[in-house]
Amino acid sequence: MSGRLSVIGLGPGDAAHVTPEASASIAEATDLFGYGPYLDRLTLRADQHRHVSDNREELDRSRAALVAAAGGKTVAVVSGGDPGVFAMAAAVCEAIEHGPPEWRDIELQVVPGVTAMLAVAARSGAPLGHDFCAISLSDNLKPWDVVETRLKAAAGAGFVIAVYNPISRARPWQLGKAFEALRETLPSTTPVIFGRAAFRHDEKIVIKTLGEADPAQADMATCIIVGSAETRVIERSGRAPLVYSPRQSAGGSR
Ligand SMILES: C[S@@+](CC[C@H](N)C(=O)[O-])C[C@H]1O[C@@H](n2cnc3c(N)ncnc32)[C@H](O)[C@@H]1O
Repeated sequence: MSGRLSVIGLGPGDAAHVTPEASASIAEATDLFGYGPYLDRLTLRADQHRHVSDNREELDRSRAALVAAAGGKTVAVVSGGDPGVFAMAAAVCEAIEHGPPEWRDIELQVVPGVTAMLAVAARSGAPLGHDFCAISLSDNLKPWDVVETRLKAAAGAGFVIAVYNPISRARPWQLGKAFEALRETLPSTTPVIFGRAAFRHDEKIVIKTLGEADPAQADMATCIIVGSAETRVIERSGRAPLVYSPRQSAGGSR
């Protein structure tokens, strides 16, 4: 008796960005698994069961959700932003790959959501208007020298870089090191957007240059967009500046 499992992206935080598909999947679920703050965004019925776990327990949460689905439940695993971007969809796939064969028969659906870099970009103009990439600064899941190598390669190749997981209490120095690495490659005038809690009530968008960028401006709820040498800032009287990367690129990395 195999049930269903949906891995659902709830978007950056505003109810307006929860897609109709996500809402329908949440309404169908009998059992919902997730990190507490994400489950707290939902209004559930009395017959729906919440299974809260810590944010660092992604694989255990995935296995518990798969066990419930294999037992015939209609299960939802919720994630902030998009579930496939540094989030639960990959953890569920990993659990399936290494789990019992019957988990491969579970009907799996990944429901996309608006990821943080798109939310921050929308709040600041169009910094992702040309080629870009996304890098997680967390060295819990990969060695730090890999992070630095990728940052330098991306900056050197002219990509705009969206930096997820920039800093936390357990990872206090990595963002400063990342800015140092980027300053070796990019001009100090390169625009840097600190997008905190985009589309939430405590949103804060701050635009600096790479020369001015200070790790203290970021926290765990911040996604940082580092421009390329071609990213531009349009100052506007009485309004926030617009940051954009032109659709046309002259090529070259600097
Ligand atoms: C574990 S990752 C999850 C990303 C999520 N799956 C997504 O697609 O946005 C958590 C990181 O996403 C970024 N983030 C999530 N929501 C955000 C928001 N509303 N505004 C800015 N950054 C956000 C932050 O960099 C945070 O450290």
